[in-house]
Amino acid sequence: MSTPASELAYLARALKAPRIGSVSGRLATRAREEGWDYEAYLAAVLAEEVSARDGHGGQARVKAARFPAVKTLDDFDFTVQTSVSRQTIAHLAQLDFLAEAQNVVFLGPPGTGKTHLSIALGVQAARRGHRVAFATAHQWVNRLGTAKRAGRLDEELERLGRIPLLIVDEVGYIPFDPEAAALFFALISSRYERRSLIVSSNKTFSAWAEIFGDPVAVAAMVDRLVHHAEVIVLKGESYRLRGKREEVLSGAKEH
Ligand SMILES: Nc1ncnc2c1ncn2[C@@H]1O[C@H](COP(=O)(O)OP(=O)(O)OP(=O)(O)O)[C@@H](O)[C@H]1O
Ligand SMILES: [Mg+2]
Repeated sequence: MSTPASELAYLARALKAPRIGSVSGRLATRAREEGWDYEAYLAAVLAEEVSARDGHGGQARVKAARFPAVKTLDDFDFTVQTSVSRQTIAHLAQLDFLAEAQNVVFLGPPGTGKTHLSIALGVQAARRGHRVAFATAHQWVNRLGTAKRAGRLDEELERLGRIPLLIVDEVGYIPFDPEAAALFFALISSRYERRSLIVSSNKTFSAWAEIFGDPVAVAAMVDRLVHHAEVIVLKGESYRLRGKREEVLSGAKEH
């Protein structure tokens, strides 16, 4: 005859919930000792399974997001980058902006931490159970261009619409031709008030007209992007050049 413990082990396997099998006995002992009611015991067992799944899923989601490197908020030195407060970023890291389909925009010169902070928020979102996808603006546009040529642009935008957070890095380093600009506009407007974006650019919004060529379309795009957004303007010297400034400048003179 099967004992309750072997029955539980069998059921946990059948549910593909291995953690339930491994913790149920230990938690039952604790429940008896501490006088938990049935609901408290069941909740404790299920919570263990949920957190085990989140742990595994978190790593998988971080991988699937295709970050160029994994960066976290713990690695970010707010004493060097004083134009953004730790508090503002910590608040964003609570991810209310995702639930509200709001955007985050980082603007600032090279090396000021735009990509680092975008990735760190993306990693946090992935670890908390949200799907995330990272690419540069040009990679996104290429992807949409490929979909358009195959006659499935709407399908691709709909598919991306199921991902709660897209990160669009490096808007502004390379100008867009009119077709690329139209695809970028389609991406922004397809997510407007539905899903979140984190966008980084080394150019101020007033310089975006030059990147996209069409001031009217840019005005409409920026309007949608910032309507519900936290816009963070980073300032200062490049972190990459810290302590190397003299070297780099004198090196530049020599050549
Ligand atoms: N305040 C900081 N604390 C720790 N590391 C930082 C900080 N700012 C930048 N870095 C590091 O410096 C490098 C450059 O930063 P990052 O890539 O975020 O710059 P960026 O603003 O995206 O620049 P670019 O416009 O050139 O893409 C990265 O390795 C990043 O991790
Ligand atoms: Mg960058």
